[in-house]
Amino acid sequence: MTDLDTLRQSWLTRIADASDEQTLEQVRVGAIGKKGEVALKMRELGKMTPEERQTAGPALNALKNEINSALIARKTALADVALDERLRTEWLDVSLSPRPRQQGTLHPVPQVMEEVTAIFADLGYSVAEGPQIETDWYNFDALNIPSHHPARAEMDTFYMARAEGDQRPPHVLRTHTSPVQIRSMQDRGAPLRIICPGRVYRADYDQTHTPMFHQVEGLALGRDISMANLKWTLEEFCRAFFDVEGVELRFRASHFPFTEPSAEVDIRCSWAGGQLKIGEGDDWLEILGSGMVHPKVLEAGGIDPTEWQGFAFGMGIDRIAMLKYGIPDLRAFFDSDLRWLRHYGFGSLDVPTLARGVNR
Ligand code: DAH
Repeated sequence: MTDLDTLRQSWLTRIADASDEQTLEQVRVGAIGKKGEVALKMRELGKMTPEERQTAGPALNALKNEINSALIARKTALADVALDERLRTEWLDVSLSPRPRQQGTLHPVPQVMEEVTAIFADLGYSVAEGPQIETDWYNFDALNIPSHHPARAEMDTFYMARAEGDQRPPHVLRTHTSPVQIRSMQDRGAPLRIICPGRVYRADYDQTHTPMFHQVEGLALGRDISMANLKWTLEEFCRAFFDVEGVELRFRASHFPFTEPSAEVDIRCSWAGGQLKIGEGDDWLEILGSGMVHPKVLEAGGIDPTEWQGFAFGMGIDRIAMLKYGIPDLRAFFDSDLRWLRHYGFGSLDVPTLARGVNR
């Protein structure tokens, strides 16, 4: 049985020497895995005489158990070391005064909102805002989404609680920035050029969806504004925003209740080498929805559709921020992890202006 002792010594040493969980797993497979050394030894039992088997069998089982216990003990120790290391490096002195360091950064969302605002301001648009808790009418009906419409179900709406006995439809957390179109038409009439950046809410959560996210809505009304003006405006915006001269957009016929005709817009890009490049390559990425404002929507905003027409669009701010700055996971936007903020954040005095280019 001396070769069992050698085997035992050699595996116990390897277990003790394993310095991370991956190495330890390799040791486990080599020792007691299906094709590991101990398993191969066990196969030899078949060739032994019954007497030999009586001592060799239990000895091998005991060895297997011993190795297994050693593996478990080592794994726990390694996990403790990893935790100690995290506790040692990831600390935060909450008593530290933030003032002398002046290291605060601007989150990519407000940064991109500033960039978008600067670009559209140059095209004659002003910024409009609306409430985040919206009435059912502004969020849906006024945008030609009546109560039976399937788009309501698709939007994963958060409904506010109603006071007892209140028969009116519940308020909602706005599911898009489009209701600001209606409020702005009512307040300011036509002609009109606005963008409406802000928070929107939908009950959805994965790598590319969070329950709260940001959109920017655009609306231009005039006597003879057409789809051609929409196309030019969006191309001009993308050229400035992504800082790519040869930016190319593709307009795909689509459907939104609040526009007719409607188009979804894709931007040409390449994913070569796992890196996203805007303006080259053979891939297309959807970046926004748009169209000519539906006459019923104009009417809901108090605008005469026989006299005025215009275009509208809606774009995800977080999404274009991810594309422009190569940020892979949307959820990290809202984790408030200081290391993430330092990495993706912007200098607070680094205000985007068109004169300097909105890109740093
Ligand atoms: N409101 C749409 C959404 O949240 C986006 C959108 C599409 C807005 C087309 C528009 C538009 O103004 O014309 O998905």
